[in-house]
Amino acid sequence: MSLQLPAAKTIIEPFRIKVIEPLAMLSATERSAALTKAHHNLFGLPADKVTFDLLTDSGTSAMSAEQWSAMMRGDESYAGARSYYRFEKAVQDLTGLTHIIPTHQGRSAEYLLMKALLNKPNMYVLGNTHFDTTRANIESTGAKAIDLPCEETHKPNSMDNFKGNIHLEQLKSFITDHPNQVALVIMTITNNSVGGQPVSLQNIKEAKAICKTHQIPFFIDCARFAENAYFIQQREAGQKNRTVAQIAKEVFSYGDGALMSAKKDAFGNIGGFLAINDNALAEEVRRLMVITEGFPTYGGLAGRDMEALAVGLQEVVDENYLSYRIKSVEYFGKGIESCGIPTVKPWGGHAVYINAGATLPQIPSLHYPGQAIAAALYEHIGIRGVEVGSVMLGHYNLDEGTESPAPQELVRLAMPRRAYTQSHVDYMIEMMGHLAPHLSSLKGYKITKQPKYLRHFTCQFEKL
Ligand code: F0G
Repeated sequence: MSLQLPAAKTIIEPFRIKVIEPLAMLSATERSAALTKAHHNLFGLPADKVTFDLLTDSGTSAMSAEQWSAMMRGDESYAGARSYYRFEKAVQDLTGLTHIIPTHQGRSAEYLLMKALLNKPNMYVLGNTHFDTTRANIESTGAKAIDLPCEETHKPNSMDNFKGNIHLEQLKSFITDHPNQVALVIMTITNNSVGGQPVSLQNIKEAKAICKTHQIPFFIDCARFAENAYFIQQREAGQKNRTVAQIAKEVFSYGDGALMSAKKDAFGNIGGFLAINDNALAEEVRRLMVITEGFPTYGGLAGRDMEALAVGLQEVVDENYLSYRIKSVEYFGKGIESCGIPTVKPWGGHAVYINAGATLPQIPSLHYPGQAIAAALYEHIGIRGVEVGSVMLGHYNLDEGTESPAPQELVRLAMPRRAYTQSHVDYMIEMMGHLAPHLSSLKGYKITKQPKYLRHFTCQFEKL
């Protein structure tokens, strides 16, 4: 008898659990006291006061049994460790790129690349949207970081499949208008700063062609390359029958180099790399890195870290995992919407963004509606998310006493990989349903103490 059962609606984790970590279970009164002690800034909370830590998907993955086993094999030789060669092979097999340089995390790869490449005045680095640390590393050399996102990127109601794309016309005209001044183009996949939105294969191919015509190096920030490749497989015409690994390989084939924070799609708790085809550039990076990162075959990592990353890079292209991952984030987004809390759509690969401005119209931008939602999610449910609105991205000048809001008031709930289960997701949605009717009575915040730069990490708030 051949039976054809329908596909299950329930999303399951394609793994079982071997090691557990208890969740911190606190009462609302305990959380409220912790929040007051942290001056209402969620970055100030000790992790043992947080039940669901959705601050970031970076470095927060659960490692697999295979990764932990590989760590025991870690070769801690200073130079030429066996672990380096296994790591090098894993990155070469994935990317097809030549020189593989380990770094302690993504921003150190950015630092080294920018320092080696941006060695003339008046230079520009273009991208679909540079991540904050990428921008900071570009600008610390005196060069300018320019974002050229496609038109769909900032349309909150657009359901476009590839809102992470670069604007090809603007890319072309910027290069033409600034001859010999564009030192590098970086494509960030997925595009984290705009909600983890994917970039299409076509867009990557065309951006590369433009760079090639003008002899400008084209690099890929591939922190979330596997999630991006999965979106390409699911959404882009003609890609359905290819594997995620094949798609990723094609994506990397357009790169003259790649840089990665391996704390995301390599399931690492730490680590990163720079992969470069150009011999002279690789030599310059290796010369520089000895000063800050370490010898070129360990780059600030222990041998055991490189072993874990080599395995993680192979595991992440597993399509059962990716299907579960993307469906689970979408399920979370849909669930939050079903509570009447608007989110940014379509949902990206690694996080759901609550549209705090639309949820709390009673709170003006400079009373920080995102902070109000983030604090309420913590106080009432134990979720730690992060405000991505006027606290983080608004412009302020302490000397002149001026402040202007960010374009959008959002709260990011980033999902660590393989760490929380579907029942955790169900619990969070259920509790958000209970919280939703009370949101209209939330009040805003004022900032009582703040540093000159990057205030969101350390500023102090008072409830209005
Ligand atoms: N590039 C992208 C696209 C990133 O998302 C990050 C980090 C980095 C580079 C820097 O890497 O942290 O290893 O030095 N994103 C984290 C986040 C911090 O929460 O989105 P790193």
